Amino acid sequence: MTNLNTQVAIIGGGPAGLLLSQLLHLGGVDSVLLERRTRAYVESRIRAGVLESGTVELLARAGLSTQVEQHALFHDGFNICFEGNCFRADLKALTGTPVVVYGQTEITRDLYQLRLGAGARILFEAEDVALHDFNSDRPRLTYRTGTGSGEVRCEFIAGCDGSHGVSRTSVPADAITVYEQSLPYGWLGILSGTPPVDDELIYSRSSRGFALCSMRSRALSRYYVQCPISDQLDEWPDDRFWDELRHRIPEWAAARLVTGPSIEKSIAPLRSFVAEPMRFGRLLLAGDAAHIVPPTGAKGLNLAAADAGELASALLLHYRERDDSGLENYSANALRRAWNAVRFSWWMTMLTHRLGDEFSDRVQRAEFELLRRSHAAAELLAKSYCGTALG
Ligand code: APR
Ligand code: PHB
Repeated sequence: MTNLNTQVAIIGGGPAGLLLSQLLHLGGVDSVLLERRTRAYVESRIRAGVLESGTVELLARAGLSTQVEQHALFHDGFNICFEGNCFRADLKALTGTPVVVYGQTEITRDLYQLRLGAGARILFEAEDVALHDFNSDRPRLTYRTGTGSGEVRCEFIAGCDGSHGVSRTSVPADAITVYEQSLPYGWLGILSGTPPVDDELIYSRSSRGFALCSMRSRALSRYYVQCPISDQLDEWPDDRFWDELRHRIPEWAAARLVTGPSIEKSIAPLRSFVAEPMRFGRLLLAGDAAHIVPPTGAKGLNLAAADAGELASALLLHYRERDDSGLENYSANALRRAWNAVRFSWWMTMLTHRLGDEFSDRVQRAEFELLRRSHAAAELLAKSYCGTALG
């Protein structure tokens, strides 16, 4: 049996757990991180890719500014189209700030490199992680790896283990409330080693359903189409995907589309989920462990990073100043941020997806008209997208 002692035990080595561990390390607080998968598995997961400026600042605080500056793409706007007619949300003019395209895959890779380079204690393939005594001053984790079982004694547990993790489900049912809504659609996404169809993202609501043209770099495209959530990947060979995408995007974009074999293909659900509160004694939840938003507003990764940043600051205040106000306010602040992201992601989903009834079609048409004609409406969209709507 291996026994480890640390200040903060972190469950989950996705962006939330890694960023938290790095920010704590830079502030002089020790952590041990337990990750269920291998490093290669986590680093190869294709996930989100659009960063708010607040997230970029946090990554810079964590020591990643060189990587982001060298490899990220800076976007001053994006297109949002309704049956072929496009409105460009001019983010720079409406908010004063661009968004940054840099993949979660890259962030995860960069953070593992920094943490492991600094000798961090990260245990991969940690199975059967169990949480104990988080309502006391002496919480513990137990786990198993290929070399045997172990225990981590700590002062705090950070539950950063995503929506299917063990942290949230370890809380007694009567201490937690979950709010949830799902749509019967998913996003079928592919990654392709082809140049993006445009310099900026295109969100397109067509009569055949939603499509999104995104990217990871000038040579790597990420495209999505709305599909029934019951669809299986083998129903979507590459040719069918490209054909459907071409029909759902504006003609000027379809004419430029370069297709190629998919590198990755997956279906993601359109689901909102918030668990309240996010603190239970000495257990604090962060990122997807506490909340999921539909991908339409590109908020999931930004929320996970913001939680990690706030939790790191709260723990540093506790250790450096013996001041617990950050920990006391953490759950309320993080939930306010999460619900605002849910609100926006839900709104943008309702605006851009084919919902299958004429009433919704008419409401969407009116909403697009409003975006075109009202500066206030365009400004709220732009500020919500950039993460500055609440100031
Ligand atoms: N024990 C240890 N690790 C676990 C366990 C467990 N029982 N369960 C899950 N994990 C690990 C997963 O393998 C994963 O690496 O926790 C990590 C959680 O990472 P993410 O799911 O990426 O969640 P988070 O760090 O909060 O980042 C949220 O990910 O899903 C996207 O769109 C979302 O961009 C957002 C981001
Ligand atoms: C992505 O590139 O994966 C992406 C971009 C914008 C979104 C969602 C996902 O709104």
